[in-house]
Amino acid sequence: MSSLIEASGITRDYHKGSTLIHVLKGLNISVDRGEFIAIMGPSGSGKSTLMHILGCLQSPTSGRYLLDGMDVFSAPDRVRSSIRANHIGFVFQTFNLIPQLNVYENVELPLLYSDIGNSTAEERVLHAVDQVGLKKRINHKPGELSGGEMQRVAIARAIAINPSLVLADEPTGNLDSATGLEIMKLFKRLHDDGATIVLITHDSEVASHAQRRIYIKDGLLTEEKGI
Ligand SMILES: Nc1ncnc2c1ncn2[C@@H]1O[C@H](COP(=O)(O)OP(=O)(O)OP(=O)(O)O)[C@@H](O)[C@H]1O
Ligand SMILES: [Mg+2]
Repeated sequence: MSSLIEASGITRDYHKGSTLIHVLKGLNISVDRGEFIAIMGPSGSGKSTLMHILGCLQSPTSGRYLLDGMDVFSAPDRVRSSIRANHIGFVFQTFNLIPQLNVYENVELPLLYSDIGNSTAEERVLHAVDQVGLKKRINHKPGELSGGEMQRVAIARAIAINPSLVLADEPTGNLDSATGLEIMKLFKRLHDDGATIVLITHDSEVASHAQRRIYIKDGLLTEEKGI
């Protein structure tokens, strides 16, 4: 299998007041095309930071990142934006839904930045909303939805472009275990359909659905052994 993600020596520093904190300290990660991996680690260990780097939303302080063979942080901004818009689906830890827009419009949003045409876009939105079981709520705004429903809208929005890479940050973090299981079934289906999935979670039960688990600690990654 070929690598979709190949990152080496990734560091990320943040300024906190006058001190510089080293969140990622030269980590290496490689993910094959079609893999389903979970990234685990304590709060504040840098999981979301890593996800933002892997999703080309934020640059590392140093290091090299090859996505599908392309050195993305050496590429021009517009190339990075296009990769993001057409190939990567994000499920953010805090949903990031737009309160003024209804479910349909929230899910449609990333499609407007992609190269997908209008007629296909409508089809994609309806299909994604259907996949997460929210057809009946399609005209509702986020404020009228439960936490689990908002989470599902965030997932529909991530999958509507048919992404080859799905990055999901605590997608079950706000859900009861039954709803969480439903969400995991969705990810499994996406994986079966060929997507590469990188899922961030605190929950070892949720992580057990992945093919491989990676732990982030003290700015570095370790892989589970012996399974
Ligand atoms: N924009 C920023 N500016 C300054 N510090 C930041 C910024 N983003 C993150 N940090 C710091 O970097 C560290 C890692 O944050 P990050 O959000 O990646 O952790 P996390 O593992 O996702 O945590 P959680 O499990 O709580 O979501 C934290 O100490 C955080 O305060
Ligand atoms: Mg986080």
